[in-house]
Amino acid sequence: MGAMQTPSPEFPARIIDVSWDDFLALPLETKARLVSKRDGLPFHTLYAQQFHRDALDALCDLATQIRTIAKSRSGMAFLQGLLAHKRAMLYFSQPSSRTFLSFLSACQILGLRTGSVRDAATSSEFKGESREDSIRTFSSYFDLLIMRSPEKGLAEKMAWRLSNSSRPVPIINAGSGPDQHPTQALLDIYTLQRSFERRGGLRNRTVVFVGDLKRGRTVRSLSNLLLNYEGITQVFIAPDALQIGDDILAMLREHGVPHRVGADLRAELPHADAVYMTRIQDEWDATRGESARIDTSRFRIGPDEMRLLPPTGVLLHPLPRRDEISTAVDDDPRAVYWRQMRNGMWIRAALIAATFGLRTEIDEFFVRNC
Ligand code: CP
Repeated sequence: MGAMQTPSPEFPARIIDVSWDDFLALPLETKARLVSKRDGLPFHTLYAQQFHRDALDALCDLATQIRTIAKSRSGMAFLQGLLAHKRAMLYFSQPSSRTFLSFLSACQILGLRTGSVRDAATSSEFKGESREDSIRTFSSYFDLLIMRSPEKGLAEKMAWRLSNSSRPVPIINAGSGPDQHPTQALLDIYTLQRSFERRGGLRNRTVVFVGDLKRGRTVRSLSNLLLNYEGITQVFIAPDALQIGDDILAMLREHGVPHRVGADLRAELPHADAVYMTRIQDEWDATRGESARIDTSRFRIGPDEMRLLPPTGVLLHPLPRRDEISTAVDDDPRAVYWRQMRNGMWIRAALIAATFGLRTEIDEFFVRNC
């Protein structure tokens, strides 16, 4: 990954210089540049590939500043004044607890007023309006669209369309199809960074991904962001039928990232710095009950498995969980998934603040008051 690409004659300089079909055909790195601002931070947030190391460090620092400022009444009053003149629409046509609520809270922290549609059946889509027209409608009333959709590429398409309209409001992809969940990957990185900040940082670590890696969009996005960190080994532990996709393995080979693919969780735990558990994503089953026929019993963590994890290791999960992590593990200090969830609120507040160009203002307040 690394620094952003310089515009070259064969690539468009701006998103409005390219038709939808041509945009779609561009390499992801180029698309990522076209939806970002000059400072490398996003205008639209669509892909994990948008975030190179400088942007990740800037967002993590900003998240920590915001969480520190928010501790005091005067700090919270400052934050809530920042975007009091803006409105955000949360359009979630796929179920969500954490992503929806943490974005809602992030908006509230920054003073944004919000509207939401959580069930397309309650909008005019029920009367046959296309999703595209619905989203175009939201952009008429709001200054930011945060959207989750089962439809792969919908956020991307709407970002292109709105950028080419008279109201180019930013779009944040809060999960699209089985493909991308960039803001989950941001909060995962923030959690890993905080977990290791007093222990040499997030470099030269082994990260073990476990579960439904084939259809887990959080794994795909995080695997990509980890390319930004030196010396990370990525390990993928899953039943054969749910193993990580060839496209991710090709990406790791291309970047020279050490990686392993296997099915023996207990063998990997003693070498793990971070274990990233995921649930079976049966909402993507092609036929009813397809995943239920897969034996997932060896891809669970309980007290016995925690004994194999080093004392300095951490256990993450994007949540929601089913039976892949026993509740008996919840009070183990290495289980950081509840903190990870709360980190989502702070990093999403940082992302929204950065989208609206508020980094300097927040930094100045932090330096003066914290
Ligand atoms: N991790 C995550 O995306 O959770 P929700 O589906 O509850 O938003």
